[in-house]
Amino acid sequence: MNKDVEAIRTQLLQCLSDGQFHSGEALGHLVGLSRAAISNHVKALRELGLDIFRVTGKGYRLASALTLLDRDAITENLSHPPVADIEVLNIIDSTNTYLKDRLAQVEPGHVCLAEAQTAGRGRQGRQWISPFGASLYVSLCWRFPAGYQSLNGLSLAIGIAVARALKRTGIDDVQLKWPNDVYWQGRKLAGVLIEVEGQMGGACDVVIGLGLNVQMPTEVDGITQPWADLYQALGETVDRNQLSAWVIEALWQVCEAFASNGFAPLLEEWHALDYFRDQPVTLLSGQRQQQGICRGVNAQGALLLEQGGQITPCYGGEISVRGQ
Ligand code: BTN
Repeated sequence: MNKDVEAIRTQLLQCLSDGQFHSGEALGHLVGLSRAAISNHVKALRELGLDIFRVTGKGYRLASALTLLDRDAITENLSHPPVADIEVLNIIDSTNTYLKDRLAQVEPGHVCLAEAQTAGRGRQGRQWISPFGASLYVSLCWRFPAGYQSLNGLSLAIGIAVARALKRTGIDDVQLKWPNDVYWQGRKLAGVLIEVEGQMGGACDVVIGLGLNVQMPTEVDGITQPWADLYQALGETVDRNQLSAWVIEALWQVCEAFASNGFAPLLEEWHALDYFRDQPVTLLSGQRQQQGICRGVNAQGALLLEQGGQITPCYGGEISVRGQ
């Protein structure tokens, strides 16, 4: 999207975010455009997942007020000085792609958040549906001087960071599905995509992307599995700036600790959150399917799969409950 269009849509949204009616004429006046042009911008905003409706004689309004992400509000909610810069973007293809493209320019710890993603990416090449203002779309980059071989268990550690941040909102019953999905009452609340850049034998830069459902539209196309959001879990609207600060702090803290000590110190915390512990599961890696009983994880973050009385560590893939 070109910069002018983005600036216009941002301005319109800032105005509509109060949840009140604004006439097409007033909006046109605000951004210096005709009412017909406003109608086209509103259409484009609806396509991003915003619930904007129009009533003749009154104008446009958002179905409910929306607190937009705000860098200053996020920073004010941090309990420690920021480790690195926090960047708030409006509409972008993917926060992970954005950071991956800028690894040479940003310092470790740099965070970016967006209100909407037009090409949000999930694990295994899947799409991550990213409606405007409905979730947190956060990416963080971190440098691990000990390289690839030191990253075993990182994705599990990130799941713990998310669970810790959620605990601060009052949700203490999330569960983690190996390697790093966050579940609430059997439905997916958040997902993590970790991407690594670097040379074998040297330090590597990692981009950690988190999608956390906050208050999703009532109807959302394209999500193929049962999902939950924080609004369902808490029964009220969450302040996304406060939540972002808690998430960012937890990610910084876990990355720092992980870079020094790896996953082993987090093992017990992970076991307490393990969704599939002692359950019959199917492990899918590529075309291969293995069935067994999930016996937790080891200090390298590998899934421990029991088959015929033997426990084997498994390093890659996805698990599902057997029979599903
Ligand atoms: C999953 O498949 O469960 C992982 C989803 C990760 C989505 C997040 S949203 C922020 C970041 N940017 C992306 O394009 N993906 C991750």
